[in-house]
Amino acid sequence: MASLSSSSYLRIFLLVFFFCYSSVQAANLPFHPRDVLPLLPKQVSWPILNYLSSAVDLLPSFVGSVSSPNNTVEWKGACFYENTAWMEFHNKSGSEFGGGTLHIKVSNAHSWTCMDLYVFATPYRVTWDYYFLSREHTLEIKEWADKAEYEYGISIFLMQAGMLGTLEALWDVFPLFTNTGWGEKSNIAFLEKHMGASFEERPQPWYTNISVDDVHSGDFLAISKIRGRWGGFETLEKWVSGAYAGHTAVCLKDSEGKLWVGESGHENEEGEDIIAVIPWDEWWEFELNKDDSDPHIAFLPLHPDIRAKFNETAAWEYALSMSGKPYGYHNMIFSWIDTIDENYPPPLDAHLVASVMTVWSKIQPEYAANMWNEALNKRLGTQNLDLPEILVEVEKRGSSFDELLTIPEQDNWTYSDGKSTSCIAFVLELYKEAGLFDPISDSVQVTEFTIKDAYSLKFFENNSSRLPKWCNDADNVELPYCQILGKYRMELPGYNSMDPYPHMNERCPSMPPKYYRPENC
Ligand SMILES: *[C@@H]1O[C@H](CO)[C@@H](O)[C@H](O)[C@H]1NC(C)=O
Ligand SMILES: *[C@@H]1O[C@H](CO)[C@@H](O)[C@H](O)[C@H]1NC(C)=O
Ligand SMILES: *[C@@H]1O[C@H](CO)[C@@H](O)[C@H](O)[C@H]1NC(C)=O
Ligand SMILES: *[C@@H]1O[C@H](CO)[C@@H](O)[C@H](O)[C@H]1NC(C)=O
Ligand SMILES: *[C@@H]1O[C@H](CO)[C@@H](O)[C@H](O)[C@H]1NC(C)=O
Ligand SMILES: *[C@@H]1O[C@H](CO)[C@@H](O)[C@H](O)[C@H]1NC(C)=O
Ligand SMILES: *[C@@H]1O[C@H](CO)[C@@H](O)[C@H](O)[C@H]1NC(C)=O
Repeated sequence: MASLSSSSYLRIFLLVFFFCYSSVQAANLPFHPRDVLPLLPKQVSWPILNYLSSAVDLLPSFVGSVSSPNNTVEWKGACFYENTAWMEFHNKSGSEFGGGTLHIKVSNAHSWTCMDLYVFATPYRVTWDYYFLSREHTLEIKEWADKAEYEYGISIFLMQAGMLGTLEALWDVFPLFTNTGWGEKSNIAFLEKHMGASFEERPQPWYTNISVDDVHSGDFLAISKIRGRWGGFETLEKWVSGAYAGHTAVCLKDSEGKLWVGESGHENEEGEDIIAVIPWDEWWEFELNKDDSDPHIAFLPLHPDIRAKFNETAAWEYALSMSGKPYGYHNMIFSWIDTIDENYPPPLDAHLVASVMTVWSKIQPEYAANMWNEALNKRLGTQNLDLPEILVEVEKRGSSFDELLTIPEQDNWTYSDGKSTSCIAFVLELYKEAGLFDPISDSVQVTEFTIKDAYSLKFFENNSSRLPKWCNDADNVELPYCQILGKYRMELPGYNSMDPYPHMNERCPSMPPKYYRPENC
């Protein structure tokens, strides 16, 4: 991967090269103003690029997927007209699935000054590189994360060269998804730097043996993952939304007193993320011993008055009606974006969201993509348009993709595969069904709530002497909730502080690092 400093050298080199040769060559070589965009700082190049291009042209274009030594992909780039890629598998790391070298041969550039910029993605990692010289380039994957990645291979996307600055500005995002100690450190460093989060180590043991008798239906589980694919995903979600947890689940007890966990985003055996109701012992065993995302978990008991309102029958009915349905990727995006310009920390913007949707839809199970497209179609009142068609339609109507993203999700929208919810929409919809938002539940759209909005609700125990006795019993710092797993102490700023009100969270900005929230947004 190109590092920041080497690319600065390249940039200086290119500038010198460009100015020395352009005067000589200009007469007989084609030149386009786009060619210089990669040389400019992102703050300058990005607005020009947006101005020069329609939204559709800024989408990454998928050129192919390389998954076996015998399958060679060929395509025409924006700069180099002849490109081929193939994969060579090796086992230099001596690991279970070995690693691979992606070979890319680029030739036949249309000008001296152009470059092609690529994003390479698998379900487990994303990286990027740019090519400026006609020759063979390589991309090294030391070790495949698992069998699925090994079989899947690498998807290649061509980007507008002018996005170089934007990708550079995002350079500390890419390692977040790596499932290694280094990836975990990247997540911690990112959250410390961009959110002001602190990761203080707690005394051992880093897990609590809870007593199931002290747990009740409706109690909330706030989870924070800091490693691997989910870790990287959650880190970005935390950063853009201001939440200090990235995942949630809810406790449910059945009539025999057995404890269950309701969770949207549970990974089933096929590797799909679904909604599930799982026995507590099974869930906890997985989090303790098998979850490779280094999960941190806090248990947030409901306030007794709120618990008294909680209709367990209705909650169970809802949970069982959702069980087996897919995780709601669409809810997740729209809960975060409420405003046109106050939800995107730089260098994010709506174009980049569209780019991420494009890449994600190629590398994740079909339904993730379909749901985004469906969600956007619902906002437009159209059907079955794909993302590029949606962008064209939006421009035709004199609107913009930015504006489209701000239209709130309606809790009663049904998607082709039924209702689906993000982790937090699932818990809050269950609360809604159980009566916790009464009497204003008709004017609350829970899909507008981020995880932070959820733990900020004044629903939880506020009297520390009523917390279970195992609560933080090994820690020397008193928390208002019970952390039951994790090396670092979890912080939930704003915890248990806000009464619900009609149309809560439908127009809230979220700008790091302070995440100022106006009243009644
Ligand atoms: C690739 O081709 C070689 C020779 O043509 C063949 O022996 C090999 O089985 C093929 N490998 C794959 C993965 O298709
Ligand atoms: C790579 O080498 C290791 C150790 O020699 C071996 O256990 C593993 O099966 C090999 N993996 C592949 C994909 O050949
Ligand atoms: C939790 O329970 C197990 C089994 O009863 C016991 O071995 C372990 O020491 C306990 N751990 C803590 C932190 O209490
Ligand atoms: C609880 O919910 C069930 C099912 O929705 C409903 O039949 C029952 O009347 C509710 N109980 C109360 C006390 O509201
Ligand atoms: C969804 O709810 C809104 C009001 O909240 C209502 O106008 C609309 O008709 C409902 N749509 C469906 C499909 O039930
Ligand atoms: C907190 O709970 C304890 C035990 O139930 C009770 O004695 C005390 O009055 C409560 N404090 C407040 C401020 O409600
Ligand atoms: C907890 O909240 C209740 C109701 O909101 C309030 O009456 C009580 O004083 C609070 N207790 C503490 C210890 O803050």
